[in-house]
Amino acid sequence: MRALVIPETGGTEVLTVEDVPKPKIGRKDVLVRVKACAVNHTDVWIRRGYEGDPPIVTGIDVAGEIAEVGSDIESFDVGDRVVLYWNTTYCGECEFCNDGETTMCRDYGGLGVKRDGGHAEYVAVEAKHAVQLPDTVSFETAAAIPSNFGTAWRGLITRAAIGPTDDVLVLGASGGVGHGAVQIAAHAGATVYAASSSEEKAKRLRELGADDVIDYGEVDIDEAIKERTDHRGVDVIFESVGGETYEQAVRSLARGGRLVTIGATTGDADHALLHYVFWKQLEIIGATGATMGEFEDMLEAVFAGDIEPVIDSVIPLEEIPTAHERLSAGEGFGKIIVKP
Ligand SMILES: NC(=O)c1ccc[n+]([C@@H]2O[C@H](COP(=O)([O-])OP(=O)(O)OC[C@H]3O[C@@H](n4cnc5c(N)ncnc54)[C@H](OP(=O)(O)O)[C@@H]3O)[C@@H](O)[C@H]2O)c1
Ligand SMILES: [Zn+2]
Repeated sequence: MRALVIPETGGTEVLTVEDVPKPKIGRKDVLVRVKACAVNHTDVWIRRGYEGDPPIVTGIDVAGEIAEVGSDIESFDVGDRVVLYWNTTYCGECEFCNDGETTMCRDYGGLGVKRDGGHAEYVAVEAKHAVQLPDTVSFETAAAIPSNFGTAWRGLITRAAIGPTDDVLVLGASGGVGHGAVQIAAHAGATVYAASSSEEKAKRLRELGADDVIDYGEVDIDEAIKERTDHRGVDVIFESVGGETYEQAVRSLARGGRLVTIGATTGDADHALLHYVFWKQLEIIGATGATMGEFEDMLEAVFAGDIEPVIDSVIPLEEIPTAHERLSAGEGFGKIIVKP
């Protein structure tokens, strides 16, 4: 079968479309014919050598059709439409897995990171990691959500426990995760602020549920938040940009505020701003991925039509190198989807 392979770390020139063996399934598995799979920053981090261990077929977020069913499996038939939970490699035995915290397992990773993923014609997973897709949800939509909206859901709903009384600010808001965070915060009844880099992106964020959007090219985020909240600050910030915005984020929090950090696209922060953290009694909360339960809760909101991903573009395997470049430049809005 054809697949996009990272054979070794390097620039986008190392990315190659190759013929690789079609996966074989065991008794508890299903073979999925990939219909759509997202491109993620993790793919870029693996290529650059920050994460994972090439050679690997990338592709974390997979939607497709069941092509073969293992002999023990009665829950799926050939032809069923499914979306996959990506974290398929958690050990199931450690202290975290025993508590249901599978994203804290040292083997967290799964498709496209710790084992071959969905930038290929087929993927095999245990059937328990596949979820039936309603006919109303396209493969492209389904592939845009798993690790992106899943991480936003865990960060805001589980880790920060947001609710209707919270003012929430989303940074990196036009990104795959960020535009999910905006919708999930609005869905939870919060007042939603977003920071973004252009008027065009701001318009789209307002359509997705942001009550107010700050153009950070024009004004410092913390100054804008001070002005809008009468110097109080916001209760919760959902942050994925990292070094370029972390300090402004900390300065934008109200007393007792929570900063949910899920990424560092622009690298580490220079200063922790400890005096703000203790004086204002802030909480810095990390979040990564989503458990199967959080994934299913998030899917319910998507299937109900309450939240919906934006598809930036749909591309063939051969255009994945360009997709890496666009992600690194912070271009586009929502998710780039590959149709292998
Ligand atoms: N912990 C986890 O489980 C987890 C899960 C998914 C992703 N992540 C991480 O979270 C980060 C965001 O992921 P994503 O998929 O949402 O990425 P994305 O789709 O590329 O979006 C990132 C957004 O950040 C903003 N940005 C601001 N400054 C930037 C810069 N210098 N370069 C690039 N973007 C910049 C841009 O939005 P504006 O133009 O609107 O500012 C951009 O759209 C990545 O670092 C990713 O690795 C972590
Ligand atoms: Zn474990």
